[in-house]
Amino acid sequence: MSQFEVEGAEDVFSSDAAFDALYPIYISSLSAIHWTPLEVAAKAAVFLAPDEDARVLDIGSGVGKFCIAGAHFAPGHFTGIEQRANFVKAGNKVARQLGMERVSLQHGNFMETDLGAYTGIYFYNSFHENIVHDDALDEKIELSSELYERYTDHLLHELKHMPVGTRLATYWLSITEIPACYREQGSYFGNLLKLWIKEY
Ligand SMILES: C[S@@+](CC[C@H](N)C(=O)[O-])C[C@H]1O[C@@H](n2cnc3c(N)ncnc32)[C@H](O)[C@@H]1O
Repeated sequence: MSQFEVEGAEDVFSSDAAFDALYPIYISSLSAIHWTPLEVAAKAAVFLAPDEDARVLDIGSGVGKFCIAGAHFAPGHFTGIEQRANFVKAGNKVARQLGMERVSLQHGNFMETDLGAYTGIYFYNSFHENIVHDDALDEKIELSSELYERYTDHLLHELKHMPVGTRLATYWLSITEIPACYREQGSYFGNLLKLWIKEY
């Protein structure tokens, strides 16, 4: 068992199917496309949270799969910000069930989140559904190419102003221009996962 959480939790991290089964079917059925696979989460989390002082933010945390798995595989604190309230509720239920004390899943739009409070950022192409509506998770929120532009511009602006040393992990990224101040440290899972550190 990991040193990090309650007895019995280990089994649910043995496969994506075992983890996804913690959620209602309408959520687990979205997993293959919309939630980070456990092995990707483990690789990204170990990079983003090298020690217990790390504070990692998942921008668009869905049902908390990355944050919960991250806290299982790595030290540090994992916060998720997610605009769909039903996903936050489902994620917090699972986090409580597993005794994940270093996970905090919050409801809101990332536009109101202060990224400066974090040492590491995880981003799984969260704004994509605004431009490819067939990939939308549901019809609960407004989606538009204008929102895609606004969210992307804001994220890139915030990333540019993070402190030197900030760690960033991107998965399935369609934003082509990560600011030049971030140097790529490695690329995994067929180049889908990229790890970055801000150098200036
Ligand atoms: C591809 S899913 C990734 C979920 C999670 N990061 C994971 O890897 O398991 C993207 C999520 O981002 C959320 N999202 C998109 N735009 C957002 C915004 N502006 N603020 C907060 N959440 C957002 C969506 O509702 C969706 O749940």
